[in-house]
Amino acid sequence: MSGTRAPRRIVLVGFMGAGKTTVGRLLAARLGLRFVDLDDEVEARTGRRVAELFAERGEDGFRAAEREAAAALATAGDCVLATGGGAWAQPATRALLARDAASVWLDAEFDTLLARLPDDGSRPLASTRATMRALFAQRLPAYALAQRRVNAAGPPEAVAREVLEALGWTLDAQRGTEGR
Ligand code: S3P
Repeated sequence: MSGTRAPRRIVLVGFMGAGKTTVGRLLAARLGLRFVDLDDEVEARTGRRVAELFAERGEDGFRAAEREAAAALATAGDCVLATGGGAWAQPATRALLARDAASVWLDAEFDTLLARLPDDGSRPLASTRATMRALFAQRLPAYALAQRRVNAAGPPEAVAREVLEALGWTLDAQRGTEGR
């Protein structure tokens, strides 16, 4: 048994409010891996906040920047990568994110997700309930393309544990001995 080892790169996908960033940080700390947030990468590369990008360049401009950030990260090695809620629904971005990664969909009921979103203007697509519900429904088939699906309704610690279980990773993964 030599040669290839399983990738130690987890990509968390799912709708706004799923807890991708919070759970991602926990997972990274547990596994001793670097944590990366795709929106942070977009902001660092463009020098703009996500809301500013939407305002200045529209959603298409944001998606282009998001795709470029995903491309830059595709070769960045092992990490836990939290994506923005729309990234995985963009086929070209998804292909970049999926490269050598274990993808996990953090899934929860629409109402649970919605209740977690602060009304602070940081998410330009967080508009009316009806619009968001339509967006949620439209994205479900894309989220379902992730390799694993984990219920994200519970507290972040529990969700992080479930992600590790779903992947069959134990904390031994820190030493590269995960049984995948
Ligand atoms: C978006 C979700 C946001 C952010 C941007 C667009 C979306 O990330 O990428 O506002 O299209 O669902 P979070 O899922 O972290 O809120």
